[in-house]
Amino acid sequence: MNELAILEIIYIVASVLFIIGLKQLSHPETARRGNIIAAVGMGLAIVGTILFHKKDGEPIGNVGLILIALLIGTIIGWVVARRVRMTAMPQLVSLFNGMGGACAALIALLEFPHLAHSEGSINLLSGGVFNILAGMVIGSVSFAGSMIAFGKLDGRIGDIRTRVLSYANMFFLIVIIGFIAYIMGQGYKAPSEVMPLVIVLFVASLVYGVLFVMPIGGADMPVVISLLNSFTGVAAATGGFLYNNQAMLTGGILVGSAGTILTILMCKAMNRSLLNVIVGVFGGTKGQAAEVKGSIKEITLSDASVLLSYSQKVVIVPGYGLAVAQAQHLCHELEKLLEEKGVEVVYAIHPVAGRMPGHMNVLLAEADVSYDKLIEMDDINPTMSNVDVCVIIGANDVVNPAAIDDPASPIYGMPIIKAHEAKNIIVMKRGMGKGYAAIENNLFYNDKTRMLFGDAKDSLQKLITEIKNL
Ligand code: TAP
Repeated sequence: MNELAILEIIYIVASVLFIIGLKQLSHPETARRGNIIAAVGMGLAIVGTILFHKKDGEPIGNVGLILIALLIGTIIGWVVARRVRMTAMPQLVSLFNGMGGACAALIALLEFPHLAHSEGSINLLSGGVFNILAGMVIGSVSFAGSMIAFGKLDGRIGDIRTRVLSYANMFFLIVIIGFIAYIMGQGYKAPSEVMPLVIVLFVASLVYGVLFVMPIGGADMPVVISLLNSFTGVAAATGGFLYNNQAMLTGGILVGSAGTILTILMCKAMNRSLLNVIVGVFGGTKGQAAEVKGSIKEITLSDASVLLSYSQKVVIVPGYGLAVAQAQHLCHELEKLLEEKGVEVVYAIHPVAGRMPGHMNVLLAEADVSYDKLIEMDDINPTMSNVDVCVIIGANDVVNPAAIDDPASPIYGMPIIKAHEAKNIIVMKRGMGKGYAAIENNLFYNDKTRMLFGDAKDSLQKLITEIKNL
């Protein structure tokens, strides 16, 4: 078997491993294994390329440099991933995604002059040119946008929210598409003549990436990150076409389509259209406080422990604050303690609770909470009126009734967990701090609601001790 055939087989095996890995990522129980399987596929594709790839009969060059780059990248990736706090995961995803976009854009930029035929000119009106320019534009937008998203999520960059900027972006996008058409309309040109135009396009795409993400913020950030993720996938897939490389193509298409599906699902979870996210300047806009009705009522630890211990059904709504407090293990302990007393306990999982998709699932899995106790929002909501106590731990926006009854609210239309329908509500949070969308929550002033103020870990520890002493 010749080396090309071996390489083709390696790429097919790698592609199959990506697909199996991705499939396994869709369930918390198999996700870790899925990640390893996909990484093995990628490792195989890299080693196979280094060993067997030939261009014009010549083996790959600069192997020493490639290995050094791989080593540096592996060490940085390993250290950063080990150190990152769970709550800073979206920033990390954004940063890594940006690197993928940059990689695709640089490949396109460096390979463009190589499209020249033997007589020295490039046929600009060809599929190859369109593919490489598209890869460069999408990769650059993804890189620049991801860097801005990283800065925003990390609190380093503020929001500039004006509708004018959003519409200016749309205009800029049309100009970029027009510029691609202009370059392709040049017919046959030598690389040196056309490269200045390509570099202008590259810089314009970077600027567009910055402007694209700048006006988006608040609760829309996860949608944007997922969208940028799909961009990187598409950009990598164009690289797959360029090099006629199946592994790169399959990997890119998988990332592109998975990112697109996740984007659509998150838009649905927030009841928003993608266009509205991009140009809406709407979701999670900071500041607009709803009118507060009623007063805040606190509950003592002993009253809370009695109320919970003598309930039949308790629903726990975990939120971002639970992750901040790292109180997932104590939360599981409370659940087991109540179940020993004959109380039925389940968790209500909102799709955008926390700060990343699946945040609460991952957090509770870490504490060994059984998966069948995690009930999705759509399944728990019809049962909420039969719930004796709804315990909200560090959640805020995802239980804010303004999403249902206040058309002026920035989160109006976002589906929520209907905690307000439960017979009793206990809210554990440190004080009257707002949630991610920075708006008031009337649920805290509801007649049925009692506040248990304090750090979630602290409050849970005290509550558990109190219940044990009953
Ligand atoms: P949030 O609305 O962000 O509210 C979290 C609450 O936790 C705060 O009000 C805070 O109140 C409390 N808290 C913070 N630290 C605490 C601690 N140590 N102990 C106890 N409580 C603590 O959370 P949520 O309900 O989970 O909603 C998530 C929000 O983030 C949504 O708006 C969502 O759209 C957005 N978002 C989601 C994602 C994804 S994909 N999940 C990504 C980015 C943004 P105190 O300060 O008073 O304690």
